[in-house]
Amino acid sequence: MSQYFSINGGKPLAGTVTISGAKNAAVAIIPAAILAGETCVLENLPRIADVRGLKNILTGLGAAVDYTEGAAMRIDPTTIKGTDATFSEVSAMRASYYLLGAMLGTYGEVELALPGGCVIGTRPIDQHLKGMRALGAKIYLDESRNILRAQCNRLRGAEIFFDVVSVGATVNVMLAACKAEGQTVLCNVAKEPHVVDVANFLNMMGAKVKGAGTDMIRITGVPQMHGCSYSVIPDQIETGTYMIAAAATQGDVIIKNVIPTHMEAVTAKLMESGARVREGDDGYDFFLRVSMDGRPRPCNIKTMVYPGFPTDLQQPMMAYLCRAQGTSVVTENIFESRFNHAKELRRLGASIVVAKRVAKVKGVERLRGGDMSATDLRAGASLIIGALAAQGVSKVHNIGYIDRGYEDMEGKLQALGARIERVTQ
Ligand code: UD1
Repeated sequence: MSQYFSINGGKPLAGTVTISGAKNAAVAIIPAAILAGETCVLENLPRIADVRGLKNILTGLGAAVDYTEGAAMRIDPTTIKGTDATFSEVSAMRASYYLLGAMLGTYGEVELALPGGCVIGTRPIDQHLKGMRALGAKIYLDESRNILRAQCNRLRGAEIFFDVVSVGATVNVMLAACKAEGQTVLCNVAKEPHVVDVANFLNMMGAKVKGAGTDMIRITGVPQMHGCSYSVIPDQIETGTYMIAAAATQGDVIIKNVIPTHMEAVTAKLMESGARVREGDDGYDFFLRVSMDGRPRPCNIKTMVYPGFPTDLQQPMMAYLCRAQGTSVVTENIFESRFNHAKELRRLGASIVVAKRVAKVKGVERLRGGDMSATDLRAGASLIIGALAAQGVSKVHNIGYIDRGYEDMEGKLQALGARIERVTQ
């Protein structure tokens, strides 16, 4: 049975939406809990397929995981029996590569099925492996079975300069280094909010990680870590998705459970395009209010590592710019083929020309409903925004990608007045 979203667009979004916990933090923090050697309690996890998948992976390894969606997840890793992580759930999810750092760091070995996940061009893990080797691990790759084995009797701290700024490599090597002997210095690291969140979690478990959020992270190895309770930060990308959706539908939306400083690049671009973005504090929490009248002004987007404009919001932003009063240039600097959504948005009447890493988006007055297929998670969000902004009925297929990373997207949009239904056929 397949499912799709049916969206009757053209209605401004209005009301309040509450942002869930950060997917990219959660998918690292859940495997990182193995390092504790005791029970950890994780709160504010998003109710998404990737979190369910990781719960199943940890259970498959033998951990005792107690989780009811919407409540905290309790992870007791002491019952993990072995280091074989080659079962099918592991290869199905890209973020399972964090088992490399978590299990190598805890047990000194791991056998891991290589990652799947979103198809957005070549996504090498050479920097992860470079980091593990620098800490002393031997890595064996079985390319015929798509399996990696890493082993080391005693990891030792090292200075590692990453060739590219990688979220995954930064986090993975950080996990492996927590219990390594001596000091590890990671240079040219990613500074994304979820990297800082993972570092905070590691420190709550007794690790000594300093400098997360800057270009250099120093980790002083500790022999043991311990259990803790931790609440995951709000999702920066989900926040940006609803900000853009509000503007694209000429709506007026209050977005709660946000960290406004994480959103500065997006806020700046939305304001440049003519949207109003206001920050507020209701005495309990921060919120953002995004409103828009009329079509946006065109603006140019260049994706960059944090604090630049996030690649994960390039696709939603392109859907918004399809109705701009002029031509916008969107440059994708992080992933080499992250424009698969462009040909889908053309089905709504968008005018987009792609040449290598640059897309020229010539704004049109109206988009009309059409049939589209998501090719990855954020492409899916982009198509939903395009459909919400279009006149008439659209279908968005392949929504399994969207369920991987957005909690109850149709429920949250319906609460904002959107006419969106999940259809099972
Ligand atoms: C993470 C996010 C993803 C986001 C991306 C960039 C998670 C689970 N996913 O993905 O949502 O789009 O950051 O912000 O957090 N690279 C190498 N060698 C490596 C690793 C990466 O060359 O070993 C390159 C990649 O091809 C890419 C760039 O580095 O061009 C950035 O990738 P990276 O930050 O590692 O992305 P992910 O961690 O996979």
